[in-house]
Amino acid sequence: MKILIAYTSKHGTTEECVQRLQQHLHGLDVTLKNLAQAPSPSLVEYDIVVVGGSVQFGKFHPALRLFLKENLEVLKQKRLALFLCCGLAHEYEYYEEVLFAKELRAAAFQMLYFGGSLRTDGLPFLDKLFVRHLRTTIAENEIEDGEYTPSMPGILPENIETMASYIRREALKKEQKL
Ligand SMILES: Cc1cc2nc3c(=O)[nH]c(=O)nc-3n(C[C@H](O)[C@H](O)[C@H](O)COP(=O)(O)O)c2cc1C
Repeated sequence: MKILIAYTSKHGTTEECVQRLQQHLHGLDVTLKNLAQAPSPSLVEYDIVVVGGSVQFGKFHPALRLFLKENLEVLKQKRLALFLCCGLAHEYEYYEEVLFAKELRAAAFQMLYFGGSLRTDGLPFLDKLFVRHLRTTIAENEIEDGEYTPSMPGILPENIETMASYIRREALKKEQKL
């Protein structure tokens, strides 16, 4: 029973999320693969595949886009879970819809938002400018909704834990051949 978590992460938030997910899956055979750093893994040996990444300028990292495209047919046949990280929490359903193919969303046993960061410390200058712009967008959005204290996103540990429990359930089903 082998589990693959394939992801991309530009500044480390998604990396932290998948590491937390792996911790929640202790006792299971879980492999993490950063698609931007390693060649695209062969999916044959994995029973469960979890795929996701962060949104940058409205898109996934090119390595993740390529992985999703090249492996579409194989992924549809797997026990599949999807996730994403983004700064604009109010947009995550939109990103899920446009960044994951409809067939993959239909095939997935779970799809969740793991949160995201809009911290600017340590970011390169241009990224910092863009993230500042995103923070303004959130503030404006919440003011329109009648709220006046913009809530900045962060990692959502409860969603990561929920994903882990769904993965455990699938692993059990696989072992019981259900
Ligand atoms: C250059 C840049 C572009 C971003 N573009 C978007 C965006 O279009 N939409 C969004 O919701 N969040 C956006 N974000 C926020 C990221 O999705 C968020 O910071 C996420 O936690 C990054 O995860 P990572 O460090 O694993 O790449 C952007 C962040 C950066 C630095």
